[in-house]
Amino acid sequence: MSSKIDASQSTMSTGAPAPSDRNSLTIGADGPIVLHDVHFLEQMAHFNREKVPERQPHAKGSGAFGVFETTEDVSRYTKAALFQKGAQTEMLARFSTVAGEQGSPDTWRDVRGFSLKFYTSEGNYDLVGNNTPVFFVRDPMKFPHFIRSQKRLPDSGLRDNNMQWDFWTNNPESAHQVTYLMGQRGLPRTWREMNGYGSHTYMWINAQGERFFVKYHFHTHQGMAFFSNDEAAQMAGADADFHRRDLFDAIERGDHPSWTMSVQVMPYEEAKTYRINPFDLTKTWPHADYPLIKVGTMTLNRNPENFFAQIEQAAFSPGNTVPGIGLSPDKMLLGRAFAYNDAQRNRIGTNFHQLPVNQPKVPVNTYMFDGHMAYHHSGNAPVYATNSYGRPWADETGKMDDGWEADGDMVRSAYTLRADDDDFSQPGILVREVFDDAQRDALVETVAGALLGGVREPVLSRAFQYWKNIDADVGARIEAKVRAGSASKPAEGMSEAGASVAE
Ligand code: HEM
Repeated sequence: MSSKIDASQSTMSTGAPAPSDRNSLTIGADGPIVLHDVHFLEQMAHFNREKVPERQPHAKGSGAFGVFETTEDVSRYTKAALFQKGAQTEMLARFSTVAGEQGSPDTWRDVRGFSLKFYTSEGNYDLVGNNTPVFFVRDPMKFPHFIRSQKRLPDSGLRDNNMQWDFWTNNPESAHQVTYLMGQRGLPRTWREMNGYGSHTYMWINAQGERFFVKYHFHTHQGMAFFSNDEAAQMAGADADFHRRDLFDAIERGDHPSWTMSVQVMPYEEAKTYRINPFDLTKTWPHADYPLIKVGTMTLNRNPENFFAQIEQAAFSPGNTVPGIGLSPDKMLLGRAFAYNDAQRNRIGTNFHQLPVNQPKVPVNTYMFDGHMAYHHSGNAPVYATNSYGRPWADETGKMDDGWEADGDMVRSAYTLRADDDDFSQPGILVREVFDDAQRDALVETVAGALLGGVREPVLSRAFQYWKNIDADVGARIEAKVRAGSASKPAEGMSEAGASVAE
């Protein structure tokens, strides 16, 4: 156990010796406590404020520090310092479930978060992805509705399959991600044994100012492994913190998990006419069109010394980019660029970026000042720009190198459809061409089990149609199973056996 304590006895927060951590100050041994027992009052008051709000969503998780090493030359695609061959960048990873609260079991069926913070020589770069390459919705307006539908009912406070499937079947663009979720990806055996994805399309810019669109893939060196429904359900009761424990113990014994990072690269101009909208987060890019290009290796090698300070207070945001990396016209990504820092101002405080785990390793010269718990300051340097006293300010004008063209009327509308855009083709391919027989059988079992677990009309009929739209045979089998009432009752953790999926 490492410790940062060097005092010979406990102190108050002022550093003055604490009188006692065992006995409050009373009038006589049996008498009342006196109000001027400041040490006691401070202990009580601070205890009442120990918790910060949990993340909404992705509350349950943990993580570790490590290093990212760029092993390949991808300088023709990006000038970002961290992705230049030979660069080694300190980093933090946090893995999580989406819907569960802080104490919820790690092995409930869910998508898993895959958040990375790279402390680069050009500032912090965050990549906040999942263990699946797609997502449930493609307009950020839907996101709070989606998350609430996966959490708890307003009256009973219970999670509810009917609510989940009501949302999914009313939003058919969810089909691809729901197919992943109901398949093996919904129950990874450990965080070490899962892949990660940036999921969105991001922009890379090279030193010549050429732009590319990229999708990030992190393939686990530990091999993908999954729990069965029974194993996951058993583990949810036996060790709710199984994934957290597994990662911590592995690193503690020197077994450092690692992943290969690759990207798919789409030249900027091709994005305008590609047959699938490349900014639609419910779609993957076929590898036949855009093969994986290896970039480097991420290795996690250091556990947090303090969970609260370094994991709970860690603040990731997809809006945190560095030169050579940009966002894209993906509406979800643009919505996220706002949401995270705002969540963290609420969850941790105005100056969350000053906390050690969130601080960049490069000098900061920001024109944001003061606020609760301001720690770093710029002394008596000017607090305004432009100034005549030498404090630098930024002044980019004109065409942004990480920008794109936009024109048209202001509308509220779904994306314009491309030739091959529809909600069901890609999940259909996943079910028919990537899943094997055992996985398809398990998918039918898992979905039927979930539908039998309280899904009512009209949601039920819509759910049958949803699956028939994905795959006629799988849909018919699910309906038959549910109608016969023969599927096993769902546990929170349900899964299936079989081989790994393609992405
Ligand atoms: C418009 C869509 C979305 C919004 C508004 C949104 C919002 C949020 C918020 C507010 C948090 C909590 C942040 C905190 O308190 O620190 C969060 C966490 C998270 N979100 Fe999203 N999210 C969206 C979509 C996504 C997508 C598409 C992914 C993955 C591809 C994703 C992955 C994550 C992860 C991994 C975390 C946990 C971050 C951590 O480890 O601290 N989210 N999201």
